[in-house]
Amino acid sequence: MSAIEVLIGGADGKQVSLDAAMANRHGLIAGATGTGKTITLQTLAESFSRIGVPVFMADVKGDLSGISQAGKPHKEIDRRIQEIAIEGYQHRGAPTLFWDMFGKKGHPVHTTISDMGPLLLSNLLELNDTQSGVLYAAFRIADDEGLLLLDLKDLRSMLVWMGENRKEISGEYGNISGASIGAIQRKLLVLEEQGAESFFAEPMLRLKDLMMVDFSGQGVISLLDVSKLIHQSPKLYATFLLWLLSELFENLPEVGDADKPKLVLFFDEAHLIFDDAPKALLDKVEQVVRLIRSKGVGVYFISQSPLDIPEDVLGQLGMRIQHALRAFTPKDQRAVRTAAETFRPNPKIDTEAAITELGIGEALVSTLDASGSPTPVERILIRPPESQIGPVDNVKRTELISRSPVGGRYEEIIDRESAYELLKARAEEEERMAAAEAAEKDTSRASSDDVWLKPKSTRKRSSNRQSFGEAIMKSAARKATTMITGKLVRGLLGSLLGGRR
Ligand SMILES: Nc1ncnc2c1ncn2[C@@H]1O[C@H](COP(=O)(O)OP(=O)(O)OP(=O)(O)O)[C@@H](O)[C@H]1O
Ligand SMILES: [Mg+2]
Repeated sequence: MSAIEVLIGGADGKQVSLDAAMANRHGLIAGATGTGKTITLQTLAESFSRIGVPVFMADVKGDLSGISQAGKPHKEIDRRIQEIAIEGYQHRGAPTLFWDMFGKKGHPVHTTISDMGPLLLSNLLELNDTQSGVLYAAFRIADDEGLLLLDLKDLRSMLVWMGENRKEISGEYGNISGASIGAIQRKLLVLEEQGAESFFAEPMLRLKDLMMVDFSGQGVISLLDVSKLIHQSPKLYATFLLWLLSELFENLPEVGDADKPKLVLFFDEAHLIFDDAPKALLDKVEQVVRLIRSKGVGVYFISQSPLDIPEDVLGQLGMRIQHALRAFTPKDQRAVRTAAETFRPNPKIDTEAAITELGIGEALVSTLDASGSPTPVERILIRPPESQIGPVDNVKRTELISRSPVGGRYEEIIDRESAYELLKARAEEEERMAAAEAAEKDTSRASSDDVWLKPKSTRKRSSNRQSFGEAIMKSAARKATTMITGKLVRGLLGSLLGGRR
């Protein structure tokens, strides 16, 4: 098996490449603002695409869409091509799918509440332990009762119902306080205001739509525009990335050693994933990052400082591309030291000093050799992208979206029968029954002197009628239903990220 090389850059007649077989060992792109991280990301993404590896990446500033277009000649770029001695450089764009959670600048992205699962949802809503407990209970009840939690209104009606039946359900599902329910409801409102309503919907994003290879054998780049989202709801952005990661982990088959990955993910502004994340979530993230390698998925984190990434995760990132860091404050200096320490030393380079001296588009780089050991650090110029630097105009973007192979698949939201509709129907049914019962009482009072005339069947039904709340108490006897519906409701993250029970 001859290696497929991804050229990263070079200097002084030496080129540095990544062996694509090692690309599932993950990576880190770090550096201060304006030092070249985004261009490095663009360069790597188009290189993966070219060797037939699909790529998912988020466009944080809206400056990555140019990857879909051929670049233009520029003397700075020509100089780099010369200096790195790049052969076969061509101006060309990469096949690109545009996505946008809000459906404006690309295909909308949807997932369901149950698929997101209680752990990620708790993190998204920033719930405390007690509130999380209530959310977990909501999932369990929905699960036991065969109620699908798909969108925000499903979850909302579930919470309302739980509030109304608090006493009946507290025995089986733990203490459910009105205050906790209220707190979750308020946080859901905030989430809605941030535009999440359309995110929690069906049809759910199909993973295979992120893993396409076009007719010429190039990996398709899925570019998620988050330029608005990242300001409106950074937490939703981070949660989406984690959801995607776990979804891939749960659904993709194990693959043996391969000459290249099945998919590469670039997580820009990676600090958002880890900021204020509870320990339980961090542990799971660390675990998923470690294990997803065997599914042929490479994850590349992009952040300003390596200190933004928890140590356990950092330790698993094989390739390091370190752009310049400033060393003004003690914290800066610590970041420089950490960054330097993570490299395998090269006697020709003073790593710590070099980090503060690097120019734009210049970096310290270490990859993994064929045995998986880090190569000694090299100081190189990053290869310039063959695609356009900077965004595409809206006309081009609209045209590309209209020609997209997934066009029309996600634009129309499907609202199937789920918790909201079922709970509404049950409430209406209960109301009807109550009204019938009241009416019956009236009649029986009126004719109390001829009791024997009262139809037996009515009496029997009214005494046997059980409220939904009472019914739930008996739900333990419904194991069979749970076995079937549980799978649907539990969602993949539920079982992977934290388990529901
Ligand atoms: N490899 C490169 N080849 C050619 N030009 C580059 C390269 N890297 C960076 N540049 C130039 O430097 C500019 C800034 O780089 P870039 O946008 O990647 O910085 P950044 O680290 O992503 O900054 P921020 O943190 O603000 O997003 C680019 O617009 C481009 O003009
Ligand atoms: Mg950038």
